[in-house]
Amino acid sequence: MSAQEYLTAMFSLEGRVAVVTGGSSGIGRAIATALARAGARVVVVARGREALDATVTELTGFGCEAASVSADLGSREGIRAAGEAAAAVFGEPDILVNSAGINLRPPMGDIDEAVWDATMAVNLEAPFLLGRRFGPGMAERGFGRIIHVTSQQAHRAFVQSGVYGVSKGALESLARSQAEAWSPHGVTANTLVPGFVLTPLNERLASDPEQVAALAARTMVGRNGFAEDFAGAAVFLASGASGYVTGQAVFVDGGLSVH
Ligand SMILES: NC(=O)c1ccc[n+]([C@@H]2O[C@H](COP(=O)([O-])OP(=O)(O)OC[C@H]3O[C@@H](n4cnc5c(N)ncnc54)[C@H](OP(=O)(O)O)[C@@H]3O)[C@@H](O)[C@H]2O)c1
Repeated sequence: MSAQEYLTAMFSLEGRVAVVTGGSSGIGRAIATALARAGARVVVVARGREALDATVTELTGFGCEAASVSADLGSREGIRAAGEAAAAVFGEPDILVNSAGINLRPPMGDIDEAVWDATMAVNLEAPFLLGRRFGPGMAERGFGRIIHVTSQQAHRAFVQSGVYGVSKGALESLARSQAEAWSPHGVTANTLVPGFVLTPLNERLASDPEQVAALAARTMVGRNGFAEDFAGAAVFLASGASGYVTGQAVFVDGGLSVH
């Protein structure tokens, strides 16, 4: 067996179908691109049509099979519709990546019910309901990969965690519960934990050069993250190679969390 054949057997996603929420921007887009380039047929889910179309155009330009679903994961109806529409494109997915997320940052005392509800819907309820929609089918077929994107705030208070940190902490727990339920049937559930990554999500923070430099200094690598830093870990967690890795938080943060 050549090295190429060995790597293909271990990591190739040929024949797999992936659904990536938030796949039109930032970390989700980089993950969708990585999964597609590793051979998966990928459906990206988000609201904005323009960014979805641009993503699909880019992926098909790489010779990949990709499609998009425009849906609002901010409501239960939207989440359910997204699940059905995503499965209708290439069939039931083998890989589910929950990267869609919002970070509203009012001070703790100003967090009202609307902020709580909006955050919990996109960051927690969508991963839960999509997991319930796709997880049992994955278990029946004997293979599945669920990858959530959480945050440092799932593990520690950090730059105004607020309700965002609550949603991400619960998402870590959701991964463990899903892992407990479905790992005996070949379905792993894990989380990717970013540090500070320069994406549209944190434009406000990113516009303060002092803050950006201070956060980079807190890593061991000496720089903030790029969305592309998630490509390798995502392919690993989506592939057959990671079958014995489940219920874990995989930190892709340049050492920020252990510095
Ligand atoms: N960037 C960081 O430093 C960082 C750090 C820790 C964790 N994270 C986590 O990483 C994930 C990705 O973040 P990012 O930085 O890549 O953010 P981003 O560039 O802002 O991308 C967010 C994605 O989620 C989609 N989305 C947001 N609200 C949605 C809704 N209601 N319905 C459907 N789709 C929705 C967006 O598309 P539309 O707006 O078009 O819907 C977009 O595709 C998030 O879960 C975030 O919490 C990021």
